[in-house]
Amino acid sequence: MNKKTKIISVVNQKGGVGKTTTAVNLSTALAAINKKVLLIDLDPQGNLSTGLGIKNEDRKINVYDLIMVEKISIKKALINTKIPYLDIVPSGINLSGIEFELSEDINRNKKLYNKISTIDSEYDFIIIDCPPSLGILTINSLVASDLILVPLQCEFYALEGLAQLLKTVEAVKNNLNPDLRLEGIVLTMYDSRNRLSIDVINDAREHLGNKVFKTIIPRNVRLSEAPSHGLPAILYDRKCMGSEAYIELAREFINRVEAV
Ligand SMILES: Nc1ncnc2c1ncn2[C@@H]1O[C@H](COP(=O)(O)OP(=O)(O)O)[C@@H](O)[C@H]1O
Ligand SMILES: [Mg+2]
Repeated sequence: MNKKTKIISVVNQKGGVGKTTTAVNLSTALAAINKKVLLIDLDPQGNLSTGLGIKNEDRKINVYDLIMVEKISIKKALINTKIPYLDIVPSGINLSGIEFELSEDINRNKKLYNKISTIDSEYDFIIIDCPPSLGILTINSLVASDLILVPLQCEFYALEGLAQLLKTVEAVKNNLNPDLRLEGIVLTMYDSRNRLSIDVINDAREHLGNKVFKTIIPRNVRLSEAPSHGLPAILYDRKCMGSEAYIELAREFINRVEAV
């Protein structure tokens, strides 16, 4: 594989914190500056695939086959989206049974890594949208990744669960992928009228320091409307506050990643 391809897990075992929204809009912002991006939809819910307008009939070969079928390569499983420079390996409904199917397989944690590491990749970034759990799928993503991005919703209890996530990351580092790095925490759904939102930001900065991205994603209804149009918010409404924030996040992300 081309050494310069960076593989990123967007991960948080809580649902509804902005993983998929972050994956799709960060990817689109990167593609817009001519970075070649491959998205992998690892959530059985398939929200990422739907949000990019990928129809069910186009998901016949999907991430389930990629993980489970020896001869299915990334190249076979991916679809070009309507956005230049942005491809996706879509989710499939049978993905929800995979934890059970793989439970006895001794190589279960390296399935995705084995596929990703063998491609001769022309991508600058491979971004993996994880499901809301710390099960086999998320472990596969962490084993295959260089970096981790953790979206954290600006709500009460936001930091709860983070310790468990970081413990899992440490375990993966110690046993399976020593080079894995927590790149950063992205604060999402910030509401300036809500005191709790401000408390969460202060808490996160106090505990996690410069791991927290400077860019904060505001709560913005345009971000939640976009998926029903099969579009990233950045294309649905380029000028809304949410889109502007994700474009800024992409800039900060690139600066961080390229500084290393
Ligand atoms: N910044 C935001 N402002 C408003 N709605 C948001 C924002 N981020 C995400 N949403 C909405 O919140 C819900 C959960 O977000 P999602 O990205 O799907 O989270 P996850 O992938 O972690 O489950 C979705 O309906 C999404 O459209
Ligand atoms: Mg999601």
